[in-house]
Amino acid sequence: MVKIIIENLGQKELSLEELNKTALYQFHTNSIDWMHYCGGKGRCTTCKMIVVKGIEHLSGQTHAEKKYELEGLLKENERLACQVRVNGDITVRVPDESKLPHMKYSA
Ligand code: FES
Repeated sequence: MVKIIIENLGQKELSLEELNKTALYQFHTNSIDWMHYCGGKGRCTTCKMIVVKGIEHLSGQTHAEKKYELEGLLKENERLACQVRVNGDITVRVPDESKLPHMKYSA
């Protein structure tokens, strides 16, 4: 079964029931609160995730992601959770700027 590991949420492991869904969808269906200020429309970068492993298992960059990368708001190993579809095992981290005050993050 395909898994998402969130490294700085205590190595939280999500087993995915469905593939080709956005990472944001996977977080929410697994009851993980993840910042998404624009509601998943690709109009902000608050849903950014740092991809530690498995970036090759993600769908290609969307127009919104390319735009933010050109503007210097997304690095090579960063993707927008609302834009990217997950099709294999990945390990991610929540960036400091996207941490929610009520969540308990680990190192
Ligand atoms: S929630 Fe705004 S770009 Fe993803």
